[in-house]
Amino acid sequence: MPLFLEILETERLVLRFQTIRDAEFILELLNDPSWLKFIGDRGVRTIEDAKNFILNGPVRMYKELGLGFLLVERKEDQAPIGICGLMKRESLEDIDIGFAFLPQYQGQGYAYEAATRVMTYGKDSLGLNRIVAITKQGNHHSIKLLEKLGLQFENLIHLPNDQEEINLFAWNRSQV
Ligand SMILES: CC(C)(COP(=O)(O)OP(=O)(O)OC[C@H]1O[C@@H](n2cnc3c(N)ncnc32)[C@H](O)[C@@H]1OP(=O)(O)O)[C@@H](O)C(=O)NCCC(=O)NCCS
Repeated sequence: MPLFLEILETERLVLRFQTIRDAEFILELLNDPSWLKFIGDRGVRTIEDAKNFILNGPVRMYKELGLGFLLVERKEDQAPIGICGLMKRESLEDIDIGFAFLPQYQGQGYAYEAATRVMTYGKDSLGLNRIVAITKQGNHHSIKLLEKLGLQFENLIHLPNDQEEINLFAWNRSQV
């Protein structure tokens, strides 16, 4: 049965579903050097590519699973500043949390504020007993954020078709 991820809100932010109207922002985010370095090249180079990415990625996941990466919007000016949410990958057993913000919105606690809300949603509204995250070994900002969110390093894993070993972090209900 599909889960349902509603719009989420924090003091400074609104987290909402992505639509193709967000294509310009997604094009910028997916070509930012920190995205390319720590997440990877999704080959999104035009507004048309970005619309297709939104439809085949997040929008499909909302419809099929009721989960997905939400667009993080700043309340004061409605600026789209990043994405954050929960997803279910075929390659992982558990639901994972993910986030990415444009560089000009990093280092201001926005990622922590958004991700804290998403974790609360996963734990309290969805009743998840375990939430995981994957991150590259050198991604210190991401690792610091995951630890602040209460996830702990578990082990190094390989995703299918990827030679690189990446970190698996997890929060387990039984540990708290
Ligand atoms: C990973 C990523 C989301 C982390 O974002 P971030 O901006 O570093 O995270 P935060 O929002 O927690 O802010 C970090 C710092 O801002 C500081 N900060 C500044 N103003 C703040 C405020 N008003 N409130 C809270 N913290 C504030 C925090 O103290 C924190 O520093 P600390 O970690 O030394 O305590 C970001 O680096 C990113 O988008 N990277 C590219 C994509 C990526 O790698 N994604 C993860 C893939 S696994």
